[in-house]
Order: sequence, then structure tokens, then C-alpha cells
Amino acid sequence: MAKKLTRDEKYALYESSVQNPKADIAFINKEYKKMFGKLPLVLREDFCGTGAMACAWVAQSKAHSAHGIDLDMEPISYGVENHLLSLNEEQQARMEYIKGNVLDNYKFKADVVVAFNFSYFLFKERNQLVKYFSQARKHLTKNGVFFIDLFGGTETRQPLEESVKHKNHTYYWDCEKFNPLNADCTYYIHFKTHKDQIKHKKVFQYNWRMWDARELQDVLKDAGFSTVNIYWEGVDKEGLGNGHFFKANKAENCESWVTYICAIP
Ligand SMILES: C[S@@+](CC[C@H](N)C(=O)[O-])C[C@H]1O[C@@H](n2cnc3c(N)ncnc32)[C@H](O)[C@@H]1O
Repeated sequence: MAKKLTRDEKYALYESSVQNPKADIAFINKEYKKMFGKLPLVLREDFCGTGAMACAWVAQSKAHSAHGIDLDMEPISYGVENHLLSLNEEQQARMEYIKGNVLDNYKFKADVVVAFNFSYFLFKERNQLVKYFSQARKHLTKNGVFFIDLFGGTETRQPLEESVKHKNHTYYWDCEKFNPLNADCTYYIHFKTHKDQIKHKKVFQYNWRMWDARELQDVLKDAGFSTVNIYWEGVDKEGLGNGHFFKANKAENCESWVTYICAIP
């Protein structure tokens, strides 16, 4: 039987495959500055997992602080050991991990609340999603904004396994099933480690509802947001995403895409 990945291997593989906190923070800073002429200082990272983004956030300056909320101590413990403890003591004091539910009330407010890597897809009922988005809105400061991301495309609503080769491993994003009648879907993440050529299957599993951009705009409005901006990714000469996102309300119906959505109260 293949050796099981350790906690540290599992989260290191995950982070290097799907996360880019530096790029996310750069995007948020740029767009927030355009809106309010200053940088956001307090971040709340919902479904934070290891809290990689929240830890990178506090490293920006002494004025920055962050709160990361997640129900599960396993990714939090990895984050504490690998991200929090890599910061100096003064930076650590400005970062708070909360083992808790994003639907609960908290005493603090944030300039930016983020829910990235599509984690809100776990709310399958509209009223649950309205409740979550309302809670995010209630925890924003006066000039606060809420960022989520979304993926979609003609290829994403069907069983399909995609892979991306990295230096030491291959990452697989596997849609096992999609129900066209209610948009319920099951996704897995597998990793193949190149050194031993072992494919570790179903390291992460997601039972989600795949929300679409129009539905999300409506649900965000129902949750009390007045403005919803969608950011589409620009393309390079080969037609591939170039990492630059711009506001859009019309886009090409391509096979696979990822957007940022920003909601303003
Ligand atoms: C897909 S992971 C996302 C991790 C991270 N945000 C990222 O960008 O990669 C989803 C995380 O949400 C957490 N989670 C699920 N339901 C939650 C809830 N109601 N409140 C807080 N965290 C929750 C899970 O424990 C899990 O760590």
C-alpha cells in the first residue's frame, strides 16, 4: 500500500499547487487603493485553512493585522508551525488564528474580508449563502470590501481530470461528477510525487454547489451589497491567462476561467 502523505507533505503540496498569497494581496491592494485612495490594513481570511494569506498580510507593515477563521485545527496547526512561526514576534502579535465558524459573530471588523479558493461553494442552499455573505458584510469597516473568487467555463461542468506539472510533483484537479439539475458537484485533488512516482489519490475532497456569476451577483445584492464588480483575466499572446485582472461585465465563453469578485456594501 502507498505510504500516506503526512500533514506537512499534504499542505505543502496543496499550497504550492493552488495558492499565491502574494498575487492575491497585490490585486486586493491595487483595487482597494483605486476605490479608497489608501491601503486596506485589517484582513479577515475566511475558510483560511493554513492562513498563508493572513500571515503574508501582516508581513506588509507594522500597521497591518489579520484574522484567519477555519473550523479545522489540522490546517491551522500546519499554518501556525510553517507560516506564523516564520514571522518575527512583533508580526506574530498582529495575526490571529480563530478556530471557528465563518457564520458566527466576531467582535472585530475588517477592511477586507476574503473567501478564496471557492470555499463558499460548500453552502448549497441560497439562504445559507445569503446568510454567509451577510455575515461577511456585517464584519466590514466603513470602507470595507468583500472579495471572493469563482471558477467556471464550458469544461468545468463535466467529469474531467486536469493536471499541472510542477517541479517535484503533479497536481490533479478532478471533477468526478456534476449534476446539471442542481449544480451539485464532487471534486478531488490528487498529487503525484515525482521522486517515487506515487499518485496520492483524493487527498482533498469537495462536495460543492457550483454557483455561477449571475447567481452570485444576485445573492450578494440580497445580502446587502450595493455594488458587485467582476474581474476578468487578460490573456497573453498564446491566449492563456496572464495574471492581470480587469473589471468586466461581458466575457468570452471559454473552456475554463477563474475570476475575482469584489462586493461593496
Ligand atoms: C477549500 S479549503 C480553503 C483553504 C484556503 N482558504 C485556500 O484558499 O486554499 C476550505 C476550508 O474551509 C474550512 N471550513 C469549512 N466550513 C467552514 C465554516 N463554516 N467556517 C470556517 N471554516 C470552514 C475547512 O476546514 C477548510 O479548511
